[in-house]
Amino acid sequence: MSRDVSILACPKCGGAPLVAAEESLACAGCDSRFPIEDGIPDLLVGERFHDESGCDVWENEEKTGRFLATSYLAPLIERLFGDRDPVSLRVLSIGCGVGSDVEVLGSRGYEAYGADAGGRPQLWRRRSFPERFYFANAKHLPFRSETFDFVFLCCVIPHIGVVGDTYETTPDHAAQRQAAWDEALRVLKRGGHILLSAPNKRCPLDLFHRKFHWVHLPRVHSPWETFLLSVDEYREQLVVRGGCRDFEVLPLEGYWGFFISSGYWFGRLLQAPIRLLFKLMSWESTRWLRGTFLNPWLVVRAQKS
Ligand SMILES: C[S@@+](CC[C@H](N)C(=O)[O-])C[C@H]1O[C@@H](n2cnc3c(N)ncnc32)[C@H](O)[C@@H]1O
Repeated sequence: MSRDVSILACPKCGGAPLVAAEESLACAGCDSRFPIEDGIPDLLVGERFHDESGCDVWENEEKTGRFLATSYLAPLIERLFGDRDPVSLRVLSIGCGVGSDVEVLGSRGYEAYGADAGGRPQLWRRRSFPERFYFANAKHLPFRSETFDFVFLCCVIPHIGVVGDTYETTPDHAAQRQAAWDEALRVLKRGGHILLSAPNKRCPLDLFHRKFHWVHLPRVHSPWETFLLSVDEYREQLVVRGGCRDFEVLPLEGYWGFFISSGYWFGRLLQAPIRLLFKLMSWESTRWLRGTFLNPWLVVRAQKS
């Protein structure tokens, strides 16, 4: 298992190269040492994310990540980069969770990496490319600037600046999220693409976060809550603050595999109208609806100038 340290930069002092030392990575600038535990470097600066865990949750995330990477991300990357050989493209999943998305993209030839600050690193060891994963905070990424051609954060920004693993934001959530936005754009190459997804703040039904952890009921919320983001907020961050161009809200078809709801008859019944809605949000003629309250899930993309 060989780790490419040439793409790494110290997350603590913000930029000095990291060099491989015995069972650790060492900063050539500030002398910080980061342990490598069971093959996974712990480059976390700041707090970790205490997320929901358990075999059922992980199994579903595993399938969902595979489906997403196979049916949505890989075709999109192909479309965005045209005839570029996958081997020449470096991609990064920030908040990669179980990391099955990274594994699928890696198996397609992309130089795919994952970073996450939650409780899933133990699952990365079973991946085909465990050396491509880093335990790290999205607000302090351990990568050199302009390293990746494609960076994606699938349902990650809303979970930054919250109290524990809840939907309640902290007083400094805007500053915390700003740090994550800045880092994501910093590690993206000029001309590279960034993709973000999460439930739509303007849609009062959040189908993807449960009201209570023990029951599969959608979360009803105000379209002005601070947990989720609207299209305007994504545009503000990417285009106005981040200087990106070519901002678009993407279609939804192919994003979700509906694995949990396919497991019980009531779920299958409920899933039928949602699938239809996703189809509707994917047509070119209804593109203008994607930013409205009718769309439960936003996927946005922009290109770094
Ligand atoms: C809802 S999960 C999404 C996981 C995966 N991207 C997916 O689409 O299934 C949110 C992920 O963000 C990670 N996360 C939350 N805050 C983070 C932070 N500050 N830095 C890195 N990862 C973070 C969590 O550990 C978790 O894996």
